Amino acid sequence: MTTQDDRLEFEAHKRKQALALGEDKAVFAQSLDMLTALDRYDYSYLWSWMGVPIIQMPADIMATQEVIWETKPDVIIETGVARGGSVLFMASLLEVMGKGKVIGVDIDIRAHNREAIESHPMSKRVVLIEGGSADEDTLTKVRAEIPPGARVMVVLDSDHSRDHVLAECRAYGDLVTEGCYLVVADTLVGHVSEENAPKKRSKLWFAGNEPLSALRDYMAETDAFEVNEVLNGKLVLSSSPGGYIRRKSR
Ligand SMILES: C[S@@+](CC[C@H](N)C(=O)[O-])C[C@H]1O[C@@H](n2cnc3c(N)ncnc32)[C@H](O)[C@@H]1O
Repeated sequence: MTTQDDRLEFEAHKRKQALALGEDKAVFAQSLDMLTALDRYDYSYLWSWMGVPIIQMPADIMATQEVIWETKPDVIIETGVARGGSVLFMASLLEVMGKGKVIGVDIDIRAHNREAIESHPMSKRVVLIEGGSADEDTLTKVRAEIPPGARVMVVLDSDHSRDHVLAECRAYGDLVTEGCYLVVADTLVGHVSEENAPKKRSKLWFAGNEPLSALRDYMAETDAFEVNEVLNGKLVLSSSPGGYIRRKSR
């Protein structure tokens, strides 16, 4: 039996549906309601990557996997390491690709978290830098870890206040190379009212002082990036809708 190669058609359908989903405000509102309900169970804290806690929604892990595989970066910088799951997740993809490293930056890398990361099979592709992510001495250490000509991707997942994320966008945005992504995590908070903001967190973020506001301000001051509407369109049940932007050709 002969079968027809339908891959182009399949991809075109995915693209069309993702763009349509991105326009569906009713579904987005339902997703926001669901995420608010799930947060009562600390849903984004329930997962692990290769045995290490990863504080992410599954949809964001998939989206990050898609952009890493598509763009094949040599260096991925992540601000906000926490227990290490996300740096190890990205390191495991680089390991499959046989190249590169993840630079994890955190203001507070606790001894037990450092131990879990440094004893993990993927640790050979991880460099940890302790320090405030927007501090000049941290940035000097980060830049020193980037080999000349490397393709660089950045994920911002540290302090989610507007001013801090904007400072990070300005500092790390310039490091992102052509065709690669800057991921601004937790843009969902820009859709959450003060009344619905999670109260159990150490800091309270809600619309106005959060990553989406910072991203909007950053996009207003630079034309270096474009929003990937297809990827962002399917980011429902995600912490970072609209947070995946790609550096244009220089
Ligand atoms: C949301 S957690 C990161 C989660 C992690 N990316 C993951 O997916 O598992 C935020 C982390 O940002 C760190 N952080 C907070 N403020 C920071 C700052 N100014 N600079 C660097 N890291 C910071 C915290 O110590 C915390 O570990």
